[in-house]
Amino acid sequence: MIEVKALSKQFGAQLAVDNLSFRVERGQFCMLVGTSGCGKSTTLRMINRLIEPSQGQILINEQDVTTLPPEQLRRRIGYVIQGVGLFPHRTIHQNIATVPRLLGWKKADIDARVTELLTLFRLDAATFAGKYPHQLSGGEQQRVGVARALAARPELLLMDEPFGALDPLTRALLQDELLRVQKLLGITIIMVTHDLEEAVKMADVIAVMDKGELLQLDNPETLLRHPRAGLVQNLVGGLDRSLRLLAIKQVGQVMTPLSLQQQQQQQQQQRPSSSVPTIAADANLRDAMALLIWEGVDCLRVVDTAGKHIGQVTMPDLLQQGARA
Ligand SMILES: Nc1ncnc2c1ncn2[C@@H]1O[C@H](COP(=O)(O)OP(=O)(O)O)[C@@H](O)[C@H]1O
Ligand SMILES: [Mg+2]
Repeated sequence: MIEVKALSKQFGAQLAVDNLSFRVERGQFCMLVGTSGCGKSTTLRMINRLIEPSQGQILINEQDVTTLPPEQLRRRIGYVIQGVGLFPHRTIHQNIATVPRLLGWKKADIDARVTELLTLFRLDAATFAGKYPHQLSGGEQQRVGVARALAARPELLLMDEPFGALDPLTRALLQDELLRVQKLLGITIIMVTHDLEEAVKMADVIAVMDKGELLQLDNPETLLRHPRAGLVQNLVGGLDRSLRLLAIKQVGQVMTPLSLQQQQQQQQQQRPSSSVPTIAADANLRDAMALLIWEGVDCLRVVDTAGKHIGQVTMPDLLQQGARA
C-alpha cells in the first residue's frame, strides 16, 4: 500500500532521517517508535509532503507521491498531530468538515459525513455538532481530531503521538476506539508513539528507529521475543517483558472452550452462575490477569460479543503464556 524507499532528510548538517526503507500493506497498522529526535515526525511529514525528502521515494499504491497533486494527497492521506490541533473558533461540525469543504463537496454530503463520523466515534451528533472544542473533554476532542482526519475517506492515516497528552484511562479507551474504527474501515495507519506498550497493543508491525535509521521492523510478538541486541533490547527489556507479552494475546486464544453440550446446558439454565467474573474473548491477557487479581478469583468466564459464555480462563493459563518469553 505504502512503500518508503531509501528515504533521507538532511536539515543543514544534520541527517534527521537516514536511508529509511519500509513497506506497509493495505489495512495494516504500523507503529514508529524510538527515542526523541530520531526522525519519526520528519518521516510522517515527508509522507504527506509537508516537507520534501532530500533523497529517496515514497510510493502509495506504486505511485510516487511527488507526482500527485496536493489536493489528491490531502484526500488520500489523513493526518492527526500531537495534542489535537482543532480550530478553536470553529464548531465541531466545521472542524470535521474542513477537508471535504476544501475539496468542494456538496453541503448535504458534508452534513451526512459529519453525522456519520460523530456517530462512528460514539458522539451524539445533535449534541456535539454545534459545540466548540473547548466545551469538550480531552478525549472527546481527540475523537473529533481523528474524525476530522477521516472526513474525506483517506486510504492512509498518519498519526503523530495522537494520545500523548491524555490521561492513561482516556488513552486506553481511545486506543480501543481507534482499533475498532480501523478494523471497520480497513484503513492503513502509520502512527508515531514513544510508548512501546501502546505500539505492542495496537500494531501489526513495529518499526524501531534510532538517529534517523531503522533498527528493526517486525510484528509485536517477534519484536518482543527476538529484539535486536542494543537499543531495541533495552527498549523491550526490563521487568515487565512478560506482561507486555500478555498484552499481545487475546483471551479467546488461550481459553479452555466449553463443549457444545456445556454451552447448551448453560443456555438452558435460567441464571448463569454469577459469582464468577466474566471477561470478553477479545480482551487481552493482561486485562484478564488484572481482573483475576482484582477479584481474587482463580477462574474467569469468557464471553463472546453477544455475552454468551464460551469458555474459561485460569491464572495458570495466563502464567504459562507469560513464561514463554
Ligand atoms: N524543520 C526542521 N529544521 C531543522 N531541524 C529539524 C526540523 N525538524 C526536525 N529537525 C531535527 O531533526 C531531528 C528529527 O526530528 P523529529 O523527526 O521531529 O524527531 P522525533 O519525531 O522522532 O522526535 C531532530 O534532531 C530535530 O531537531
Ligand atoms: Mg516527533
